[in-house]
Amino acid sequence: MAVERTLVLVKPDGVERGLVGEVISRFERKGFKIKALKMLKMTREMAEDFYSVHREKPFFQDLVEFITSGPIVAMILEGDSAIDVVRLMIGATDGRKAQPGTIRGDYALSIQNNIVHASDSQESFQREYKIVFSEDEIIP
Ligand code: CMP
Repeated sequence: MAVERTLVLVKPDGVERGLVGEVISRFERKGFKIKALKMLKMTREMAEDFYSVHREKPFFQDLVEFITSGPIVAMILEGDSAIDVVRLMIGATDGRKAQPGTIRGDYALSIQNNIVHASDSQESFQREYKIVFSEDEIIP
């Protein structure tokens, strides 16, 4: 088991619906430490970079519109096996298919408006967190 870091975003729908505290609380209660936290509005440039792996997908433009449509809350979490455990806690991408007890399973009914994003691998984390945070915003 290894201590890892992962990036979590509460997306515009999660912020709009007042779920920021609920999302953070679940991760804190699980035992993760918050190493960085801020609210921001993604620019189109940031969003296109962040979701560049989906550039060729038919939903790419809608996804960029959605993630830039309002403020988001971004955090870096640290803990044992953080990448896999956080992915388990957020549930399947499609809120209609996510297990009850997961964040998406409890709060989402959509594949696009699915409340949260979390890095799916170490490589994704390394790429994603730099788009959102500068090094001086992160606790060492
Ligand atoms: P996320 O975990 O942030 O990673 C990529 C996002 O693209 C995903 O959550 C969804 O919000 C969105 N997404 C994935 N698949 C689809 C799809 N088929 N239609 C619309 N949006 C999608």
